[in-house]
Amino acid sequence: MLRSHVEKQKIPLLPSPSKLFNESAFAVRDPDGNQTVYGLAPDGAADEPAPIHGPLQHVTLTSTNMAAFEDFYAGKIGFAVSDRVRNDKGQVTTCFLRSNHEHHTLAVFLKTEAGLDHHSYEAGEWITIRDWADHLATLRIPIVWGPGRHGPGNNLFIFIKDPDGNMIEISAELEVIHDRPAKEWKHEPYTLNMWGPAIMRS
Ligand SMILES: [Fe+2]
Repeated sequence: MLRSHVEKQKIPLLPSPSKLFNESAFAVRDPDGNQTVYGLAPDGAADEPAPIHGPLQHVTLTSTNMAAFEDFYAGKIGFAVSDRVRNDKGQVTTCFLRSNHEHHTLAVFLKTEAGLDHHSYEAGEWITIRDWADHLATLRIPIVWGPGRHGPGNNLFIFIKDPDGNMIEISAELEVIHDRPAKEWKHEPYTLNMWGPAIMRS
């Protein structure tokens, strides 16, 4: 979907949309009012080298209406559901959706208000998360959650906060799905972080 990269010791300015996408890009607005953009990178702009690998991997939103969210993205846009987390009342509290073979490129948490939960960048391999953590240390940016391992997606993660308090994830070794039915997970801290404490959204 979107493209991004990180340069060591230097924060690049946000590229203009015309540099992120070619002219085939389009945007839609979902039932919660979020605008999502879909497009391909312009010719010749892909895979610019970066000292630390970190393309945008997924975005996680929050919603008060999980059924409408899933119906829009899976039923209309064409995402596939990889996993759902369900509570004791039978409510879906998390839904993971994919637009390629990666476990999720979009996810949604049930919450009391709709919005952005976090965005996540792909480190590729576990050892690169170490490099990220060392890089963040040079910038005096602390890890606020993790290292941990999510149940759904089986990915390894750390989280930091940006200056506005937004949660940012750096993730590695996300499950690759070619063809399997969606799985159901229990709504409990262990599902969110098999290694330790969880930040429960509902
Ligand atoms: Fe995430």
